[in-house]
Amino acid sequence: MKIMVTGGAGFIGSNFIHYLLREYDDIKVINYDKLTYAGNLDNLKDIENDARYHFIKGDICDKELVERVIKEYGIEQIINFAAESHVDRSITGPEPFIKTDVFGTFTLLEASRKFDIERYVQISTDEVYGSIKEGSFSEKDALNPSSPYSASKAGADVLVMAYNKTYGLNTVITRSSNNYGPYQYPEKLIPVLIIRALHDKPLPIYGEGTNVRDWLYVGDNCKAIDLVRRKGKEGEIYNIAANDEWRNIDVAKLILQILNKPESLITFVKDRPGHDFRYSLKIDKIKALGREPEINFPDGLKKTVEWYLNNEWWWKKLIGGQNAI
Ligand SMILES: NC(=O)c1ccc[n+]([C@@H]2O[C@H](COP(=O)([O-])OP(=O)(O)OC[C@H]3O[C@@H](n4cnc5c(N)ncnc54)[C@H](O)[C@@H]3O)[C@@H](O)[C@H]2O)c1
Repeated sequence: MKIMVTGGAGFIGSNFIHYLLREYDDIKVINYDKLTYAGNLDNLKDIENDARYHFIKGDICDKELVERVIKEYGIEQIINFAAESHVDRSITGPEPFIKTDVFGTFTLLEASRKFDIERYVQISTDEVYGSIKEGSFSEKDALNPSSPYSASKAGADVLVMAYNKTYGLNTVITRSSNNYGPYQYPEKLIPVLIIRALHDKPLPIYGEGTNVRDWLYVGDNCKAIDLVRRKGKEGEIYNIAANDEWRNIDVAKLILQILNKPESLITFVKDRPGHDFRYSLKIDKIKALGREPEINFPDGLKKTVEWYLNNEWWWKKLIGGQNAI
Protein backbone atom coordinates (compact mmCIF):
# COMPACT_ATOMS: atom_id res chain seq x y z
CA MET A 1 0.00 0.00 0.00
CA LYS A 2 1.38 3.41 -1.00
CA ILE A 3 0.10 6.19 1.22
CA MET A 4 0.70 9.92 0.88
CA VAL A 5 0.53 11.58 4.31
CA THR A 6 0.29 15.35 3.91
CA GLY A 7 1.42 17.45 6.88
CA GLY A 8 3.35 14.43 8.15
CA ALA A 9 6.06 16.60 9.73
CA GLY A 10 3.57 18.14 12.16
CA PHE A 11 2.38 16.90 15.53
CA ILE A 12 -0.37 14.38 14.71
CA GLY A 13 0.93 13.55 11.21
CA SER A 14 4.36 12.50 12.51
CA ASN A 15 2.79 10.41 15.27
CA PHE A 16 0.59 8.81 12.59
CA ILE A 17 3.59 7.96 10.35
CA HIS A 18 5.32 6.34 13.35
CA TYR A 19 2.12 4.39 13.97
CA LEU A 20 1.87 3.15 10.36
CA LEU A 21 5.50 2.02 10.26
CA ARG A 22 5.12 0.20 13.59
CA GLU A 23 1.95 -1.56 12.48
CA TYR A 24 2.63 -2.50 8.84
CA ASP A 25 5.61 -3.97 6.96
CA ASP A 26 4.07 -3.90 3.50
CA ILE A 27 3.60 -0.14 3.36
CA LYS A 28 5.26 2.82 1.66
CA VAL A 29 4.68 6.23 3.28
CA ILE A 30 5.31 9.43 1.36
CA ASN A 31 5.38 12.36 3.76
CA TYR A 32 4.47 15.50 1.76
CA ASP A 33 4.94 18.62 3.88
CA LYS A 34 5.67 22.29 3.26
CA LEU A 35 7.67 22.57 6.50
CA THR A 36 6.00 25.69 7.86
CA TYR A 37 7.08 26.81 11.34
CA ALA A 38 5.01 23.84 12.64
CA GLY A 39 6.62 21.21 10.41
CA ASN A 40 9.73 19.64 11.87
CA LEU A 41 11.77 16.79 10.43
CA ASP A 42 13.20 16.16 13.91
CA ASN A 43 9.80 14.53 14.61
CA LEU A 44 10.81 11.76 12.18
CA LYS A 45 14.55 11.54 12.85
CA ASP A 46 14.38 7.97 14.13
CA ILE A 47 12.75 6.70 10.92
CA GLU A 48 14.41 8.89 8.28
CA ASN A 49 16.46 5.93 6.97
CA ASP A 50 13.57 3.46 6.95
CA ALA A 51 13.19 2.16 3.38
CA ARG A 52 9.40 2.32 3.73
CA TYR A 53 9.49 6.09 4.36
CA HIS A 54 10.19 8.99 2.02
CA PHE A 55 9.96 12.76 2.58
CA ILE A 56 9.04 15.36 -0.04
CA LYS A 57 9.00 19.08 0.69
CA GLY A 58 5.94 20.53 -0.96
CA ASP A 59 2.84 22.67 -0.59
CA ILE A 60 -0.59 21.02 -0.88
CA CYS A 61 -1.67 24.09 -2.89
CA ASP A 62 0.94 23.24 -5.56
CA LYS A 63 -1.13 21.34 -8.13
CA GLU A 64 1.78 20.31 -10.39
CA LEU A 65 3.92 18.93 -7.59
CA VAL A 66 1.00 17.13 -5.91
CA GLU A 67 0.13 15.47 -9.22
CA ARG A 68 3.74 14.57 -9.99
CA VAL A 69 4.22 12.91 -6.59
CA ILE A 70 0.98 10.92 -6.87
CA LYS A 71 1.99 9.71 -10.33
CA GLU A 72 5.65 8.99 -9.63
CA TYR A 73 5.04 7.07 -6.42
CA GLY A 74 1.84 5.36 -7.54
CA ILE A 75 -0.04 6.77 -4.53
CA GLU A 76 -3.17 4.76 -3.63
CA GLN A 77 -4.39 6.60 -0.53
CA ILE A 78 -4.11 10.18 0.77
CA ILE A 79 -4.40 11.14 4.45
CA ASN A 80 -4.57 14.92 4.73
CA PHE A 81 -3.21 16.30 8.01
CA ALA A 82 -1.71 19.41 6.39
CA ALA A 83 -3.22 22.58 7.83
CA GLU A 84 -2.58 25.82 9.56
CA SER A 85 -3.75 24.71 12.97
CA HIS A 86 -3.32 27.35 15.66
CA VAL A 87 -6.49 29.30 16.58
CA ASP A 88 -4.63 32.35 17.96
CA ARG A 89 -2.63 32.70 14.73
CA SER A 90 -5.86 32.46 12.71
CA ILE A 91 -7.23 35.46 14.60
CA THR A 92 -4.20 37.65 13.89
CA GLY A 93 -3.68 36.42 10.29
CA PRO A 94 -6.42 34.29 8.71
CA GLU A 95 -5.14 34.26 5.10
CA PRO A 96 -2.79 31.24 5.24
CA PHE A 97 -5.62 29.29 6.91
CA ILE A 98 -7.94 29.83 3.97
CA LYS A 99 -5.15 29.08 1.49
CA THR A 100 -3.92 25.84 3.03
CA ASP A 101 -6.99 24.47 4.78
CA VAL A 102 -9.51 25.25 2.03
CA PHE A 103 -7.61 25.68 -1.25
CA GLY A 104 -5.01 23.05 -0.32
CA THR A 105 -7.76 20.51 0.40
CA PHE A 106 -9.41 21.41 -2.92
CA THR A 107 -6.10 20.79 -4.72
CA LEU A 108 -5.73 17.36 -3.11
CA LEU A 109 -9.35 16.46 -3.93
CA GLU A 110 -8.91 17.43 -7.58
CA ALA A 111 -5.73 15.36 -7.82
CA SER A 112 -7.46 12.43 -6.06
CA ARG A 113 -10.22 12.53 -8.64
CA LYS A 114 -7.79 12.74 -11.54
CA PHE A 115 -5.64 9.82 -10.38
CA ASP A 116 -8.46 7.60 -9.00
CA ILE A 117 -7.17 7.65 -5.44
CA GLU A 118 -8.84 4.66 -3.78
CA ARG A 119 -9.26 6.31 -0.35
CA TYR A 120 -9.06 9.96 0.74
CA VAL A 121 -9.02 10.65 4.50
CA GLN A 122 -9.57 14.23 5.68
CA ILE A 123 -8.36 15.03 9.19
CA SER A 124 -10.80 17.52 10.66
CA THR A 125 -11.62 18.79 14.12
CA ASP A 126 -14.39 18.99 16.73
CA GLU A 127 -14.06 22.78 16.43
CA VAL A 128 -16.16 22.77 13.25
CA TYR A 129 -19.29 22.17 15.39
CA GLY A 130 -18.57 25.19 17.59
CA SER A 131 -19.11 25.40 21.32
CA ILE A 132 -21.70 23.42 23.30
CA LYS A 133 -22.67 24.17 26.93
CA GLU A 134 -24.28 20.79 27.63
CA GLY A 135 -24.60 17.54 25.73
CA SER A 136 -22.45 16.44 22.79
CA PHE A 137 -22.37 16.81 19.01
CA SER A 138 -23.03 13.90 16.69
CA GLU A 139 -21.68 13.70 13.15
CA LYS A 140 -25.11 14.83 11.88
CA ASP A 141 -25.04 18.15 13.71
CA ALA A 142 -24.69 21.41 11.82
CA LEU A 143 -21.35 23.16 11.36
CA ASN A 144 -21.10 26.31 13.45
CA PRO A 145 -17.43 27.35 13.61
CA SER A 146 -16.26 30.33 15.67
CA SER A 147 -12.71 31.15 14.57
CA PRO A 148 -11.10 31.63 11.14
CA TYR A 149 -9.28 28.33 11.87
CA SER A 150 -12.43 26.30 12.50
CA ALA A 151 -14.22 28.05 9.62
CA SER A 152 -11.41 27.04 7.24
CA LYS A 153 -11.59 23.44 8.48
CA ALA A 154 -15.39 23.44 8.06
CA GLY A 155 -14.94 24.74 4.50
CA ALA A 156 -12.59 21.84 3.77
CA ASP A 157 -15.06 19.32 5.24
CA VAL A 158 -17.94 20.41 3.03
CA LEU A 159 -15.68 20.29 -0.04
CA VAL A 160 -14.70 16.71 0.84
CA MET A 161 -18.38 15.78 1.25
CA ALA A 162 -19.22 17.37 -2.09
CA TYR A 163 -16.45 15.42 -3.86
CA ASN A 164 -17.89 12.21 -2.50
CA LYS A 165 -21.44 13.05 -3.58
CA THR A 166 -20.64 14.66 -6.92
CA TYR A 167 -17.68 12.62 -8.18
CA GLY A 168 -17.99 9.45 -6.13
CA LEU A 169 -14.54 9.98 -4.56
CA ASN A 170 -14.02 7.47 -1.77
CA THR A 171 -13.71 9.87 1.17
CA VAL A 172 -13.91 9.66 4.95
CA ILE A 173 -13.56 12.48 7.48
CA THR A 174 -12.34 12.23 11.07
CA ARG A 175 -13.21 14.96 13.57
CA SER A 176 -11.22 14.65 16.74
CA SER A 177 -11.11 16.53 19.99
CA ASN A 178 -7.95 18.25 21.34
CA ASN A 179 -4.87 16.05 21.05
CA TYR A 180 -1.84 16.03 23.32
CA GLY A 181 1.35 13.95 23.45
CA PRO A 182 4.90 13.79 22.03
CA TYR A 183 6.05 16.22 19.30
CA GLN A 184 3.38 18.86 19.91
CA TYR A 185 4.73 22.28 18.94
CA PRO A 186 5.35 24.47 22.00
CA GLU A 187 2.68 27.05 21.21
CA LYS A 188 -0.25 24.80 22.14
CA LEU A 189 -1.64 24.72 25.68
CA ILE A 190 -0.13 21.54 27.13
CA PRO A 191 3.50 21.90 25.89
CA VAL A 192 3.45 25.61 26.81
CA LEU A 193 2.31 24.79 30.35
CA ILE A 194 4.84 21.95 30.75
CA ILE A 195 7.80 23.99 29.48
CA ARG A 196 6.91 27.13 31.43
CA ALA A 197 6.40 25.11 34.62
CA LEU A 198 9.83 23.51 34.10
CA HIS A 199 11.32 27.02 33.97
CA ASP A 200 9.28 28.20 37.01
CA LYS A 201 7.57 30.76 34.78
CA PRO A 202 3.91 31.87 35.13
CA LEU A 203 1.40 29.55 33.44
CA PRO A 204 -0.95 31.76 31.34
CA ILE A 205 -4.58 30.65 31.49
CA TYR A 206 -7.27 32.39 29.43
CA GLY A 207 -10.17 34.06 31.32
CA GLU A 208 -10.98 32.17 34.50
CA GLY A 209 -9.71 28.83 33.24
CA THR A 210 -13.20 27.32 33.18
CA ASN A 211 -13.19 26.48 29.44
CA VAL A 212 -13.53 22.74 28.95
CA ARG A 213 -11.71 20.49 26.48
CA ASP A 214 -11.99 16.74 25.92
CA TRP A 215 -8.35 15.63 25.81
CA LEU A 216 -7.35 12.79 23.51
CA TYR A 217 -3.93 11.10 23.63
CA VAL A 218 -2.38 11.42 20.15
CA GLY A 219 -1.57 7.69 19.99
CA ASP A 220 -5.25 6.86 20.55
CA ASN A 221 -6.22 9.28 17.79
CA CYS A 222 -3.70 7.72 15.35
CA LYS A 223 -5.10 4.26 16.03
CA ALA A 224 -8.64 5.51 15.44
CA ILE A 225 -7.66 7.35 12.23
CA ASP A 226 -6.09 4.16 10.91
CA LEU A 227 -9.27 2.24 11.77
CA VAL A 228 -11.33 4.78 9.82
CA ARG A 229 -8.84 4.59 6.93
CA ARG A 230 -9.32 0.81 6.75
CA LYS A 231 -12.91 0.27 7.83
CA GLY A 232 -14.74 3.61 7.68
CA LYS A 233 -17.75 3.66 5.40
CA GLU A 234 -17.30 5.69 2.23
CA GLY A 235 -18.67 9.24 2.46
CA GLU A 236 -19.00 9.11 6.25
CA ILE A 237 -17.73 11.30 9.09
CA TYR A 238 -16.33 9.85 12.34
CA ASN A 239 -15.99 11.78 15.59
CA ILE A 240 -12.99 10.72 17.68
CA ALA A 241 -12.69 11.67 21.35
CA ALA A 242 -11.84 10.19 24.73
CA ASN A 243 -14.87 11.64 26.53
CA ASP A 244 -12.40 12.82 29.20
CA GLU A 245 -13.30 16.45 29.90
CA TRP A 246 -11.06 18.82 31.83
CA ARG A 247 -11.22 22.53 32.62
CA ASN A 248 -8.06 24.41 31.54
CA ILE A 249 -7.37 25.40 35.13
CA ASP A 250 -7.40 21.74 36.20
CA VAL A 251 -5.04 20.81 33.35
CA ALA A 252 -2.60 23.42 34.64
CA LYS A 253 -2.97 22.16 38.24
CA LEU A 254 -2.35 18.56 37.18
CA ILE A 255 0.83 19.52 35.28
CA LEU A 256 2.10 21.44 38.31
CA GLN A 257 1.31 18.46 40.53
CA ILE A 258 3.20 16.04 38.23
CA LEU A 259 6.22 18.39 38.17
CA ASN A 260 5.96 19.16 41.90
CA LYS A 261 5.62 22.91 41.31
CA PRO A 262 3.41 25.42 43.20
CA GLU A 263 -0.09 26.40 41.99
CA SER A 264 0.91 30.03 42.53
CA LEU A 265 2.54 29.84 39.05
CA ILE A 266 -0.95 29.97 37.48
CA THR A 267 -1.73 33.45 36.05
CA PHE A 268 -5.01 34.44 34.42
CA VAL A 269 -4.77 36.41 31.14
CA LYS A 270 -7.33 38.25 28.98
CA ASP A 271 -9.59 35.76 27.22
CA ARG A 272 -9.22 34.93 23.51
CA PRO A 273 -11.90 36.63 21.33
CA GLY A 274 -14.62 34.14 20.29
CA HIS A 275 -13.17 31.58 22.71
CA ASP A 276 -15.33 28.46 22.56
CA PHE A 277 -16.40 27.44 26.07
CA ARG A 278 -16.65 23.69 25.58
CA TYR A 279 -16.37 21.08 22.83
CA SER A 280 -17.93 17.66 23.19
CA LEU A 281 -18.47 14.78 20.79
CA LYS A 282 -20.69 11.70 20.63
CA ILE A 283 -18.44 8.77 19.77
CA ASP A 284 -20.90 5.88 19.19
CA LYS A 285 -20.04 5.68 15.50
CA ILE A 286 -16.29 5.15 15.94
CA LYS A 287 -17.05 2.74 18.82
CA ALA A 288 -19.22 0.70 16.44
CA LEU A 289 -16.14 0.32 14.18
CA GLY A 290 -14.43 -1.35 17.16
CA ARG A 291 -12.50 1.42 18.82
CA GLU A 292 -12.04 2.29 22.52
CA PRO A 293 -9.64 4.98 23.80
CA GLU A 294 -6.86 3.29 25.76
CA ILE A 295 -5.22 6.05 27.77
CA ASN A 296 -6.99 8.29 30.30
CA PHE A 297 -5.95 11.91 30.69
CA PRO A 298 -3.93 11.71 33.95
CA ASP A 299 -1.90 8.73 32.62
CA GLY A 300 -1.45 10.26 29.17
CA LEU A 301 -0.44 13.59 30.67
CA LYS A 302 2.17 11.89 32.87
CA LYS A 303 3.59 10.13 29.80
CA THR A 304 3.61 13.43 27.92
CA VAL A 305 5.38 15.33 30.72
CA GLU A 306 7.98 12.53 30.85
CA TRP A 307 8.46 12.79 27.08
CA TYR A 308 9.11 16.56 27.29
CA LEU A 309 11.50 15.97 30.21
CA ASN A 310 13.44 13.34 28.23
CA ASN A 311 13.46 15.24 24.91
CA GLU A 312 14.75 18.69 25.69
CA TRP A 313 16.88 18.44 22.49
CA TRP A 314 13.60 18.49 20.54
CA TRP A 315 11.85 21.50 22.08
CA LYS A 316 14.82 23.64 23.21
CA LYS A 317 15.56 24.68 19.60
CA LEU A 318 11.91 25.58 19.01
CA ILE A 319 11.34 27.95 21.90
CA GLY A 320 14.04 30.42 20.77
CA GLY A 321 15.83 30.74 24.08
CA GLN A 322 14.32 30.46 27.53
CA ASN A 323 12.68 33.88 27.46
CA ALA A 324 10.71 33.33 24.27
CA ILE A 325 8.08 30.95 25.59
N1 LIG B 1 -3.78 19.24 17.38
C1 LIG B 1 -5.04 19.00 17.67
O1 LIG B 1 -5.42 18.96 18.84
C2 LIG B 1 -6.03 18.71 16.57
C3 LIG B 1 -7.32 18.30 16.94
C4 LIG B 1 -8.23 17.99 15.93
C5 LIG B 1 -7.86 18.08 14.61
N2 LIG B 1 -6.60 18.50 14.28
C6 LIG B 1 -6.25 18.55 12.85
O2 LIG B 1 -5.22 17.61 12.65
C7 LIG B 1 -4.33 18.07 11.63
C8 LIG B 1 -2.92 18.06 12.15
O3 LIG B 1 -2.86 18.90 13.29
P1 LIG B 1 -1.49 19.15 14.05
O4 LIG B 1 -1.82 19.58 15.42
O5 LIG B 1 -0.61 17.99 13.83
O6 LIG B 1 -0.94 20.40 13.24
P2 LIG B 1 0.53 20.97 13.12
O7 LIG B 1 0.37 22.44 12.98
O8 LIG B 1 1.43 20.42 14.18
O9 LIG B 1 1.06 20.35 11.73
C9 LIG B 1 0.61 20.78 10.49
C10 LIG B 1 1.59 20.29 9.44
O10 LIG B 1 1.10 20.68 8.15
C11 LIG B 1 2.17 21.24 7.40
N3 LIG B 1 1.61 22.20 6.44
C12 LIG B 1 1.02 23.39 6.72
N4 LIG B 1 0.64 23.99 5.58
C13 LIG B 1 0.97 23.15 4.56
C14 LIG B 1 0.82 23.20 3.16
N5 LIG B 1 0.27 24.26 2.55
N6 LIG B 1 1.27 22.16 2.42
C15 LIG B 1 1.86 21.08 3.01
N7 LIG B 1 2.04 20.99 4.35
C16 LIG B 1 1.59 22.01 5.11
C17 LIG B 1 3.08 21.90 8.43
O11 LIG B 1 4.40 22.09 7.93
C18 LIG B 1 3.01 20.90 9.58
O12 LIG B 1 3.97 19.89 9.42
C19 LIG B 1 -4.83 19.44 11.21
O13 LIG B 1 -5.57 19.30 10.03
C20 LIG B 1 -5.71 19.88 12.37
O14 LIG B 1 -6.73 20.72 11.91
C21 LIG B 1 -5.68 18.81 15.23
